[in-house]
Amino acid sequence: MIRKLLNCLHLYNIIQVNLHSIIFCNTLKLYFMAFTVPALPYAYEALEPHIDKETMQIHHDKHHQAYVDNLNKAIAGTENENKSIEELVKNAGSISPAVRNNGGGHWNHSFFWESLAPNSGGSPDGKLSDAINEVFGSLDGFKEKFNAAGIGRFGSGWVWLGSQAGKLVICSTPNQDNPLMDVAECKSAPILGCDVWEHAYYLKYQNKRPDYLNAFWNVVNWKKVAERFKP
Ligand SMILES: [Fe+2]
Repeated sequence: MIRKLLNCLHLYNIIQVNLHSIIFCNTLKLYFMAFTVPALPYAYEALEPHIDKETMQIHHDKHHQAYVDNLNKAIAGTENENKSIEELVKNAGSISPAVRNNGGGHWNHSFFWESLAPNSGGSPDGKLSDAINEVFGSLDGFKEKFNAAGIGRFGSGWVWLGSQAGKLVICSTPNQDNPLMDVAECKSAPILGCDVWEHAYYLKYQNKRPDYLNAFWNVVNWKKVAERFKP
């Protein structure tokens, strides 16, 4: 609907050849079609003491915003500007490094915020719990392997729990890659992700990534993770 309206406005611009209408239309187009940072589904301080308020503010408002701004710049005026973030991410390796890094950054962080929740943690139940036990032996066994993958990621990146045709796998990706990308070494449908860039934990945990990963389990939104799991 909005795209049709914009197409009409675009046609109007061409017909009118009016500078003011062109500026108006371009501004309107940017407003409607650019990607935006989704609002956090909880307060900045809601995950304390496990993830602190200042980290959440900077992470969401500055880092995520920068990925979105750079993604919008990278696709403006190209054949990719009308594509969904999922389409961009899946073909990131063949589009451009800017889309790979910033499209990945946008998708990953949007997914991350929803993977967390206040007053959460604990254990999954139902089919997800069964699937974890089947592959990893126990929830603790799963956490141990997930943490090891996060600790083992050299530099910046992510660690994921994903589903490969219903079977759970742990993947780690560099930078802002994710398991949906065409360039991913470990492809899967992610159901949980943990950001192990230093910007996700340095203010509170400094160089102690293992401490951050241990704290992460106290704020995992297992209800959301279970919703994403399609066995
Ligand atoms: Fe991040």
